[in-house]
Amino acid sequence: MQYLLQDAGFILIVDDNPTNLSVLSQALKSAGFTIRIAEDGESAISLVSRKPPALILLDIQMPGISGFEVCQQLKSNPLTQNIPIIFMTALADTESKIKGLSLGAVDYIAKPFEQEEVIARVRIHLQLKLLNNQLEQQVKERTETLEKAQLQIVQQEKMSMLGQLVAGVAHEINNPIGCICGNMNPIKEYITDITQILQVCQENESYLPDNVRNTIASCDLEFIIEDLPKLLNSIKLSTERIKGISISLRNFARADTSAKVAVDLHEGIDGTLLILGHRIKASSQRPDIEIIKQYNQLPKVECYPGQINQVFMNILANAIDAIDENWQHNKLDNNSLTIKINTEISNYQYVTIRITDNGMGMSEVVQNRVFEQFFTTKPMGQGTGLGLAIAYQIIVEKHNGKLAVNSTPGQGTEFVITLPI
Ligand SMILES: Nc1ncnc2c1ncn2[C@@H]1O[C@H](COP(=O)(O)OP(=O)(O)O)[C@@H](O)[C@H]1O
Ligand SMILES: [Mg+2]
Repeated sequence: MQYLLQDAGFILIVDDNPTNLSVLSQALKSAGFTIRIAEDGESAISLVSRKPPALILLDIQMPGISGFEVCQQLKSNPLTQNIPIIFMTALADTESKIKGLSLGAVDYIAKPFEQEEVIARVRIHLQLKLLNNQLEQQVKERTETLEKAQLQIVQQEKMSMLGQLVAGVAHEINNPIGCICGNMNPIKEYITDITQILQVCQENESYLPDNVRNTIASCDLEFIIEDLPKLLNSIKLSTERIKGISISLRNFARADTSAKVAVDLHEGIDGTLLILGHRIKASSQRPDIEIIKQYNQLPKVECYPGQINQVFMNILANAIDAIDENWQHNKLDNNSLTIKINTEISNYQYVTIRITDNGMGMSEVVQNRVFEQFFTTKPMGQGTGLGLAIAYQIIVEKHNGKLAVNSTPGQGTEFVITLPI
């Protein structure tokens, strides 16, 4: 413990009496402590502000400002308030003791003092301070760990809820779509048959009874026969699109795996864009956002696909927010609204995904803080300040990747995700 205590720093002795100073200094030095001295209150305060000591032995009655005042000033400054102060004085009355302790001193030594006692008390208080520092450090570390764990729980919960919702929707539309797709071919065959019958009727119109001929004449049969296959075709294309959406939704939902798997990142980006589709399309507030995909060939990447999708989701949602905000304030009509997504391999070792928007951009101050937990510039209820903190944790800690931001205020922002292959 002696080693640790000496390590804690120096001890400042403040006393106007040279004899006291030298006796105390000698005693503490021979006990292994490093000593500095001040002969009045003002120089003590200026010395402390330059280099804070581990502990202060403070005389009360001195010319100039008193020990009580020195104590008060040090305790009111956040930088010096935690330095332990022990008063030393000939004033042995209870009132002075109480005053000293109520000002925040940790202890009180009456003059004339026993050297052994002073050394013992100094040791105890240094030790207490050290233990206190260690405790504070531990609390800080545990709070950080807890906050990280909490973020992970929030993130997992959010993703698994979204996954369940998406899986539910995909499941619900699957049956009716299956029914429509399955009936498409028989309908086509039936319609071909019926069309044939109608054509025969048309060719032999003169043999038909009047009422049948009149009914045929009253509807534009030729047009119907020509238009019906076109309608059927476009219904078929639409149902196939819905089927594709349903498959993407199921892939997105299934991405919530507990082990790493090799996946096609483009599928993840496309699934995420699909889910954000309603926010990308034009609204009463602004026109469509154009998504420019510059996909290069990528190998499958080992990852937790659900988490990676969440990163895409958080970054893309922010890009849409930034474009919305920019449009609301600037409405530049010659400026189309775009989100560019570029993917490529670098050095055969990494996959790089760049997501670039031409939204409002951000200042350097904001850029430096975007990955901080709870940092948001959005109004209450709209921003949580968790999106990018979660993204950072997923990319950097879970996948050993990198997440960087480049931005120019008023012009736009680029997020660069790098993942090892
Ligand atoms: N594409 C972007 N353009 C401009 N600012 C952005 C962009 N992405 C993030 N930001 C800034 O980073 C902040 C933190 O983002 P995020 O962690 O997702 O939290 P939130 O979106 O809830 O505010 C945002 O409030 C915004 O100021
Ligand atoms: Mg966000």
